[in-house]
Amino acid sequence: MRPTDVVNTPFNDGVFAINVPSLKFGMESTHDVGYEAKRLGIHHALIVVDPHLESSLVYDTVKEALDKESIDSATTTMVRVEPEDTMVLEAFQAIREKTIDGFISIGGGSTIDTAKMLNLLYSYPRDLLDYVNKPIGQGIGPSGPLKPHIAVPTTAGTGSESTSIAILDISAIKVKSGISHRYLRPEVAVIDPLNTLSLPPMVTASAGLDVLNHAIESFTAHPYTARIKVKDPANRPVYVGATPIGDIFAIQAVGWVHHFIRRAVAQPYDIEARYYMMLGASIAGIGFGHAGVHIPHAMGYPIAGMVRGWAPHDYKYGYALSPHGISTAIPAAYVFRNLANVDFDRFEQIARVLNLRGESTRQLADNFFEYYIDLLTTLGIPTTLKELGFTPQDVDNLVAGTLAQQRLLSLAPIQVTEGVLKRLFDQAIVGL
Ligand SMILES: [Fe+2]
Repeated sequence: MRPTDVVNTPFNDGVFAINVPSLKFGMESTHDVGYEAKRLGIHHALIVVDPHLESSLVYDTVKEALDKESIDSATTTMVRVEPEDTMVLEAFQAIREKTIDGFISIGGGSTIDTAKMLNLLYSYPRDLLDYVNKPIGQGIGPSGPLKPHIAVPTTAGTGSESTSIAILDISAIKVKSGISHRYLRPEVAVIDPLNTLSLPPMVTASAGLDVLNHAIESFTAHPYTARIKVKDPANRPVYVGATPIGDIFAIQAVGWVHHFIRRAVAQPYDIEARYYMMLGASIAGIGFGHAGVHIPHAMGYPIAGMVRGWAPHDYKYGYALSPHGISTAIPAAYVFRNLANVDFDRFEQIARVLNLRGESTRQLADNFFEYYIDLLTTLGIPTTLKELGFTPQDVDNLVAGTLAQQRLLSLAPIQVTEGVLKRLFDQAIVGL
């Protein structure tokens, strides 16, 4: 805990919420989906499933579990990796006339986020942009709880099953934004490590790096007391910065990812590695559900939005794609090196979990950077943005796209100016 955590002045906000989602974890827990749906009073479920998983054991298991409880279900596969507003609206048009009293999502973060948005639009129909965070949208919250949503994650990554946010691309302005409200959090997540066994290595690596970044970014976000006191509790953001409770989950997740990510990527059927990666993803989600994430995620959004002519070899979608975890992991190496120089205390705590030493701030920052680059190299992930096709000519647009993510940048432990971002992108493009 930092001394600032207990600072209480007339100007600082000294309040945070402890949000622990309802998670059901364990091997073969997928069979419990029927029981959970019945418990939540669902009779007509809409299953939102990644198109790649429509013929899969996890989908069949969920269907069987629902049948066993005599619960009707319809299915939509109108899900895209990195969902776009237009696609979400199209999917909504296709389901809006159906009778639905509960949602079940099966897939990674994009699928779970799509289900959250469909649930929101179905429960309280209005213009999608009204719900999108300010300044891009109106930031209006739903007028009451949504239909129950059971999330069945199939990647150990985004932690979307634990969070109250959905991320989407706003196609008209080519910017990523989010919808965040506590009612968006799934009622329960059924987390079965066996559902990740068939994930290809690059998907495992990208999702696993996302977990690591969630954990490190939330642990190093500014303390929650750094925010100005709010007059109305309704105006307190969902993500408030690092809290003593969020920290517990974040630091434990760092340890599990550190120990198991290489094994999960190299040996897909290493059950122990899959188990702890899945558990790590879920608790990192709890950690950043308190604190939020900051600079690497903010930089990752324009990287994902601007990538041309590159995709990792395990992602066979037929279009250029820098998956979320890779888009955030490359800049993270450079961001953490710079932040370790200004927040020795926090990075030293993480370094201890990673078995790194650093007597001086400079040495700690260098060791941290080396660790991160070595991890990316071992996992077969590029270590510079040059390898994704970016050039120094892209820096201005990348910086502008990052500055649009003020909700994230405001959680950083430093003031993030245009100059700071320019330097970080210069480094991330060509390397150090
Ligand atoms: Fe993420």
